[in-house]
Amino acid sequence: MPKYPRVNYIGNKEKLAGWIIGELPVASGTVLDLFAGGCSVSYALKKKGYAVISNDILYADYILGKALIENDRCTLKPSVFDIQPQKEREEKLEKQFSFLSERLYYSREVKELAHLAAVAEELCEEERYLFLALIRRAMIRKLPYSRMNVPWDQIKLLRNEAYSYEKYGRKRAYHNQTFESHMRENFEDYNRAVFTGQRKCTVFNCDAMELADKTDFVDVVYLDPPYPSTMNNYDAFYGLFDNMFQAGKKHADFTRRDCFLENLEELIRKLRGKTDYIVLSQNTRVRPEPEIIARMLGNYGQVSVREKKHNYQVTGKQNKNGSKELLFVVRMN
Ligand SMILES: C[S@@+](CC[C@H](N)C(=O)[O-])C[C@H]1O[C@@H](n2cnc3c(N)ncnc32)[C@H](O)[C@@H]1O
Repeated sequence: MPKYPRVNYIGNKEKLAGWIIGELPVASGTVLDLFAGGCSVSYALKKKGYAVISNDILYADYILGKALIENDRCTLKPSVFDIQPQKEREEKLEKQFSFLSERLYYSREVKELAHLAAVAEELCEEERYLFLALIRRAMIRKLPYSRMNVPWDQIKLLRNEAYSYEKYGRKRAYHNQTFESHMRENFEDYNRAVFTGQRKCTVFNCDAMELADKTDFVDVVYLDPPYPSTMNNYDAFYGLFDNMFQAGKKHADFTRRDCFLENLEELIRKLRGKTDYIVLSQNTRVRPEPEIIARMLGNYGQVSVREKKHNYQVTGKQNKNGSKELLFVVRMN
C-alpha cells in the first residue's frame, strides 16, 4: 500500500485528509486542489481514485506534486548518488546558491547542495522531480523549526549539539548530517510513495486566481488557503527553495486580514460555472470568523458546514487550545 512520505509541511492536512475526503459531495470524478501545499490532500485523493489537479504557487510544492501526484511509476535507483556532474556546472550552481551561505547553511553545505542540484539536472524529468523532492526534505530536516525564516544566529546556536543538549535535552544531530545522508534515509519511503492512480493526475504551479480563470470544468474545487492570523507565511517558510531555482512568482495574497475576504470572494466568483462544488477548509481558531465566511459563500450557493475536533501540532508541542476543524461545502448555484 503506497504511503505519503515524510514531507514536513507547515499547516498540512495529513491527519485530516481521510475526514475531508469522506465529506466530499462526490465519490468519484475530478478534484482541483488549488492550494495543495505539501500535497497531503492531493495524495489521499489520488489514493481514493479521483482524478486530481494539484496546484500551488510555490515551486517547492510543485516539485512535490510532480514527484508524488503526477508521477505514477518512475522511481530512483541508489546509483543516482554515483553520478558525477561536470565541475563547471557545480561551480555555477554554487554561485547561484551562494545567497544561502550563512543564511541557512554553512558554505561547505551549499557546495554539497550545488552538487546534488547538478545531479538532478542529469536525470530524466520524473526522476528529477523525485530527487528534488528528496533535496527539499533534506533541506528542511537540517533546519531548526523546519522552516527557512529562522535567523542565522539562531540556526547556528540550535545546530550546536552541546547547547541543544544542555538547553533542550536533545542534541538534534540530524541538523548536522549531510544532505545526502538525509536523502538516503528517506529514499525508500519516497520511492514507495510513487504509485499509479486510477485516473490521470496533473500538477500546476500557478496563482490560484490565474488557474481559476483557465481551468476546465471539475466536479469539486478544494480550497485550503493560508488564512490571516495563523502560521501563514509560506513564501518565507519555503520560498528560498524557489529562489535557488529562480522560480519565485508573484501571487494574490491570502495572508492579510484587510483583503482576505475580498480575495476569497473574487476566487469564488472566478470558479462560478467551473465546478458543481467548492469545499473550503477552515479552523475555528482562525479569522475571519466562520459566520462571516459562511455568509459570503452563501451568495454563491447552498452552504453546509461539517466540523471535527482537531489539535494542530505547533513546532513539536501539542497545542493545548482545542479547536474545531471546519469544512464548508458549497453546492454552487
Ligand atoms: C494551508 S497551506 C495548504 C496545505 C495543504 N492542504 C497540505 O495539506 O499540505 C496553503 C498553501 O497555499 C499556497 N498559496 C498561497 N497563496 C497562493 C496563491 N495565491 N495561489 C496558489 N497557492 C497559494 C501556499 O504556498 C501554501 O502552500
